[in-house]
Amino acid sequence: MAKLTIPELIKLKGQRPISWMTAYDFIQGQLVQAAGIDVILVGDSLGMTTLGFDTTLPVTMDHMVHHSAAVRRGAPDTLMIVDLPFLSYSEPSQALRNAGRIMQQALGDGVKVEGGRAILPVVDALIKESIPVIGHLGLTPQSVHRMGGYKVQARSAEAISHLVSDARELADHGVGAIVLEGIPDRVAQYVTQTIDIPTIGIGAGAGCDGQVLVFHDCLGLSSGYPKFARPFEDLRARIIEGLTQYRTQVENRSFPTDQESYHVTDREWQEFLSLETPI
Ligand code: KIV
Repeated sequence: MAKLTIPELIKLKGQRPISWMTAYDFIQGQLVQAAGIDVILVGDSLGMTTLGFDTTLPVTMDHMVHHSAAVRRGAPDTLMIVDLPFLSYSEPSQALRNAGRIMQQALGDGVKVEGGRAILPVVDALIKESIPVIGHLGLTPQSVHRMGGYKVQARSAEAISHLVSDARELADHGVGAIVLEGIPDRVAQYVTQTIDIPTIGIGAGAGCDGQVLVFHDCLGLSSGYPKFARPFEDLRARIIEGLTQYRTQVENRSFPTDQESYHVTDREWQEFLSLETPI
């Protein structure tokens, strides 16, 4: 299937639900592409899922470039959006330099940035240089300290109004879609009806134009799950079971078998032994 473009992604709004999935390496890229998912997001959740950090804050541009380039090698035919990590887009020139690395070194199709009206100068600078931008509002993990933890956002009338205005401004400034994370379903549905670009929800209910999940949460690889995540597989248990069987069979010598071994002919072996000088 041909790779979706950003204009085609926007046109999907109102046509059919849009599927996004995160991926962080070559094999995950291959798997997500093979499943026919519309968009791969190389999220800075990389920090937690793959690098073992507690938050996304320690994730660097080098991490994002390294991992998204690997995802791209696994998924050459899928639209790939890459997160700009914490403090990598504090001002337009810095954002441009870093988004340029994603586009040129990792062959990304666009970048995602967290924030609303406060980051419009960054959004404008990127779009002016034809770098597609995806917005991210609501529970924005790079602001974990300001939010006082990973808490559902936009629950008061004032906060809802603020978020709706942010979404309108981002859409007016040309972002290709907005990820809505950790907000009440009614708010997400209202935003979805208010703007003419797709909304992609994660913990934002069923009223968005599409959904995104973290790869490890979707497949049951994580050790714990947020309320909104549904594990569609139980790979953690299955992988541990497979590894345990491997260990057991190494220990009881039932692995490897004769069929899993390479052989040399008796003739070559005898000749070799005759070449050996007795000790
Ligand atoms: O980093 C990430 O994976 C994300 C998704 C949770 C939307 O931003």
